[in-house]
Amino acid sequence: MLKLVGVETFYGKIKALHGVSLEVKEGQLVTILGANGAGKTTILKTISGLVEPEHGTIHFNGQRIDGEDSEKIVALGIGHVPEWRRIFPELTVEENLLMGGFLIKEKELLYERMEEAFRHFPILEKRKKQIAGTMSGGEQQMLAILRALMIRPKLLLLDEPSLGLSPILVRDIFTTIKDLHQSGVTILLVEQNVNRALSIADYGYVLTTGKILLSGTYEELLNEEKVREQYLGEGKYMRRSKLWSG
Ligand SMILES: Nc1ncnc2c1ncn2[C@@H]1O[C@H](COP(=O)(O)OP(=O)(O)OP(=O)(O)O)[C@@H](O)[C@H]1O
Ligand SMILES: [Mg+2]
Repeated sequence: MLKLVGVETFYGKIKALHGVSLEVKEGQLVTILGANGAGKTTILKTISGLVEPEHGTIHFNGQRIDGEDSEKIVALGIGHVPEWRRIFPELTVEENLLMGGFLIKEKELLYERMEEAFRHFPILEKRKKQIAGTMSGGEQQMLAILRALMIRPKLLLLDEPSLGLSPILVRDIFTTIKDLHQSGVTILLVEQNVNRALSIADYGYVLTTGKILLSGTYEELLNEEKVREQYLGEGKYMRRSKLWSG
């Protein structure tokens, strides 16, 4: 469904991605793991057209999408939930969702989609008229996910959805991600919550400074010493691994 080959993305003169190749098959839940600054967010932004790669190709359902503008990429069915729940804080919950469905021209369908979205987090339906910026961090994260669901994406890009949430909400968010996946949405998930991410993923990539270091299934990655040491808090990297609470 999604295939990146040799993708290189720059910010000015600084190279953030050094030839990233990865693949997400239809129906899979794939996770990208990696330390702060490794380039995880940059991969998602490059896929959704927010930044343009200098080299390499990106194909979605057989169609080349690198260099296309982000609106067209949304229209093809790629939903992006950005880092730090970027919602419109001054708008209501309902208005945020309507913005998420900006490509849908028929009003009836738009409201139908909104009802559909609320089924994932009924708690937000009760807060329809609330100004989004006044909601709790967890509620804002739920809203950010629902907003991306408005287009009924074929592929959902999730950038650290559990960031800054309490353990109970982290559990709820992961349950929702699992449900979405089971309902047929293909997912590319960026996470620091390595244990949880790998436990629901079909396949994982480990990124270090803009390069894919390793990839494999949950079991394969768990068997890699580097993954256990650096990301799961074993061995000599114990102190660093505090960043990677699971
Ligand atoms: N707009 C920008 N301008 C310049 N450099 C940038 C910009 N955005 C990201 N970078 C740099 O690109 C590299 C990759 O950043 P990116 O945000 O993709 O990392 P990340 O893996 O998502 O990190 P984190 O886990 O902290 O979110 C970093 O070195 C970062 O400083
Ligand atoms: Mg990031």
